[in-house]
Amino acid sequence: MTAHESETIPIVASSRPEMTAAIMEETGLDEAVLRTLVHRFYAKIRADDLLGPIFAARITDWARHLERMVGFWCSVALMTGSYHGRPVPLHAPLPVEAAHFAHWLMLFRETAHEVCTPAGADHVIERAERIARSLQMAVELTAARREAAASLRDPRGAAPGRVPVAGGG
Ligand code: HEM
Repeated sequence: MTAHESETIPIVASSRPEMTAAIMEETGLDEAVLRTLVHRFYAKIRADDLLGPIFAARITDWARHLERMVGFWCSVALMTGSYHGRPVPLHAPLPVEAAHFAHWLMLFRETAHEVCTPAGADHVIERAERIARSLQMAVELTAARREAAASLRDPRGAAPGRVPVAGGG
């Protein structure tokens, strides 16, 4: 166990302390568990043939990314309000599809079961699945918009069956 993993003092006080305390009681989750989850999960991601290169091409400061992800998971799982980023626009342009999200979730589920109590694993997995669905929809919408814009620019390149917009229309 690293110095990080043994810390129990929250990085931020919860904005809803009673709800946070109730969730911690029911699930066994706290900042130290979520920190271990995040660190182990991204160690697997970085070593993964499918997802590793996508992260490696975009993340230069891993210490910062991991710290932001600990804040994100404290916010999502414990309702601490400690994350203020905007993940949707960060994911929308990524070169990913359904198989990438399915693989991300497989690694996340596996790590959650290694690190958390059964109730804690269910709690974080349920949230990860919900967020993954929204991120995947954002990626698909962005790809569809990009394709539509390309076919408007060059109707000859449009996929068969698609009606190109004719002159001036
Ligand atoms: C195919 C699956 C995924 C891939 C390839 C992916 C990749 C990435 C990458 C490359 C970044 C860094 C973006 C940047 O700073 O430019 C990022 C950020 C982030 N990811 Fe994902 N991600 C995936 C799924 C998810 C899921 C399912 C969640 C949540 C459950 C998530 C949560 C986040 C958050 C919160 C950040 C932003 C951190 C910040 O604010 O700096 N990601 N992701």
